[in-house]
Amino acid sequence: MLWGGDDAEARLRELLRARRAQYAEIPHHLDTTAHTVAQVAEEVLALYAAQPRTWRVSAPSGSYPVHLARGGIGQLGALLRAREVGDNLAVVSDANVWPHWGEPLLAGLRGSGYAPEVIVLPAGEEQKHLDNVRLLYDRLAVAGVDRGAAVLALGGGVITDMAGFAAATFMRGVPLVPVPTTLLGMIDAAIGGKVAVDHPRGKNLIGAFVQPLLVMLDPDTLATLPDQERRAGLAEIIKAGVIADPTLFTALEAGAPSADLRWEIERAIAVKIAVVEEDPYEQGRRAVLNLGHTFAHAIEVLSSYRLHHGLAVSIGMAAAARLAELRGVGTAALSERIISTLTRHGLPTTYEEHPPAAVYQAMRADKKRRGGTPRLVLPRAIGEVVVVSDVTETEIIAALERIRP
Ligand code: GLY
Repeated sequence: MLWGGDDAEARLRELLRARRAQYAEIPHHLDTTAHTVAQVAEEVLALYAAQPRTWRVSAPSGSYPVHLARGGIGQLGALLRAREVGDNLAVVSDANVWPHWGEPLLAGLRGSGYAPEVIVLPAGEEQKHLDNVRLLYDRLAVAGVDRGAAVLALGGGVITDMAGFAAATFMRGVPLVPVPTTLLGMIDAAIGGKVAVDHPRGKNLIGAFVQPLLVMLDPDTLATLPDQERRAGLAEIIKAGVIADPTLFTALEAGAPSADLRWEIERAIAVKIAVVEEDPYEQGRRAVLNLGHTFAHAIEVLSSYRLHHGLAVSIGMAAAARLAELRGVGTAALSERIISTLTRHGLPTTYEEHPPAAVYQAMRADKKRRGGTPRLVLPRAIGEVVVVSDVTETEIIAALERIRP
């Protein structure tokens, strides 16, 4: 019996202590202090309308939740308090995202008593370098951010990667909370623990594996997504379909995605989680996520990172499909399905800015810098890819010739 003893408060505290870990797992917390029953009922209904969903991702260092909920960024303060995350938080964002989503995030954090250090960096892939990481270290140090607190990364893949790398290395690791605001960030960068910055000699050359404390995906943030970002995210969703989800691919092959992209996001997340759980440190299976990426990285380098990563991946998938066809791994019909689906969603599938030989040289240089044999992911069927490491220069050039307009 809880009530009726002198030590009721002590017993309540003991119960709270024993149950805190379980409570922290609940993605939504309502503070009912000074609320009427009607007010609480209204908040519960609002939560229902947010259509929350949580996945738990298993990782070698433990598991972490990925929450998907409309309005979720306003919930972060309560979630972090429930996990006993300390006061010295930092929020890292960029100049495009912050004006839209900074205030809703801060309001929720302030409501739970946090007054975070806010660091807003210029936007763009060309910002993903060590000088900005050094700047982050300086600001984290001055703000007194420590391992008992967390770094929140509010933005797209660039912010997730760069703030993630800073969090992974500052004080040998401060908890990281990705709050991705782009499709690409939600279905790829924020899940699986890969963080990195670019180096003049290659993309993502300096990085780490770090599993987040939790991930918060708020689909409301997609409302302000520029069209190019939306299409780039769709390229990665189509990629997830080609790798492992024929139902997802077939739906996108047949027509427009759902208006809020919710179904497509959930399918793509499921693919990403299954792959990273099987191979958290990219020792094998995880390489399949790089479908189109070896071509894409070379094209991105040749464009001095002016071409968006997702759009480069679309071109890279077209090249990978043609290469599969040339090697007899795939068929012409398969290539046509992949290329016409990408085209249908406004994505590029041809490349002529640099000759195939220049793209091949950039691929080779990238491979040499990373060491090891060049591994290319080729589609065998919709939902099935193979990783090959014996592709010749002639084959790569021939595939690139096939995607010239
Ligand atoms: N973005 C690819 C991966 O997480 O492995």
